[in-house]
Amino acid sequence: MKKTLRECIQEAEAKGVAIGHFNISNLEALHGIYNAAKKVDVPVIIGLSEGEEKFVGLEEAVALVKTIRERDEYPIFLNADHHSSFESVKKCIDAGYDSVIIDVAKLPFEENVKITKQCVDYAREVTAKTGRDILVEAELGFIGSGSIVRDSIPEGAGILTKPEDAQKFVEMTGVDLFAPSVGSIHGLIKTGKPHINAELVAEIRKITGIPLVLHGGSGLRDEDFTNAIKAGISIVHINSEIRLAFKEATEKSMKDNPSEITPAKILQPAVDAIEAVVEARLQLFNGMK
Ligand code: G3H
Ligand code: ZN
Repeated sequence: MKKTLRECIQEAEAKGVAIGHFNISNLEALHGIYNAAKKVDVPVIIGLSEGEEKFVGLEEAVALVKTIRERDEYPIFLNADHHSSFESVKKCIDAGYDSVIIDVAKLPFEENVKITKQCVDYAREVTAKTGRDILVEAELGFIGSGSIVRDSIPEGAGILTKPEDAQKFVEMTGVDLFAPSVGSIHGLIKTGKPHINAELVAEIRKITGIPLVLHGGSGLRDEDFTNAIKAGISIVHINSEIRLAFKEATEKSMKDNPSEITPAKILQPAVDAIEAVVEARLQLFNGMK
């Protein structure tokens, strides 16, 4: 493997594009995402939340992504998405994840700083011992939780991260990547999505001096993505769109072929549907659309 995740992010920033981060709960999603990344020929990040990781298996996820990366010499990386404690972050670092997100944004500022710093210190310790470059991301502000379909924008949305708080937080913790609240919310919202505040993205990028990550990408308008990337977003997270593609394609496949019992045949349409979603998003994030 030639390029590290840090190098891929630097390269994305220099080109004014963003790396796609897509969540998986199963092998079908991994195949769909990887097929799309190869087609578009760009680096890609595979994410697993604590729940997704419990279902797939912590070491299993590492083995899957590492196998593809080493076999194909492809820049595919593994991220521990939204982990809620130092202990769960530590497990992922120890197992071989490339990056981790400590998500304690619900806690008061000082506690968020304390736990985030503990994760950063541990990552640095492991880097010093092993030479593995492990990136730590943290968030500040309200991005909501849960990649689900929502009837409306949840309570608390609209509380955006203040640039001065972001600056203080990044300085105090030493994180590598920062996830601010700039308008997006986790999940697919039936009545539309809030707009991304691109001016705020630019201000936070400038004041923190580190790459920014946009969460809650599902359902956002194309121009919100392109404006956010222009303003300084280097990684975009998509999950709900993949979950929905899997569900709809599997439902249709089973309805259309009621006597089929071969899992590979039942589930191939789900792989293809996920591939189509990811391919379109990657083209957009990489300025090809
Ligand atoms: O970390 C995961 C993402 O932020 C997913 O958000 O479900 O709105 O795409 P989404
Ligand atoms: Zn997220």
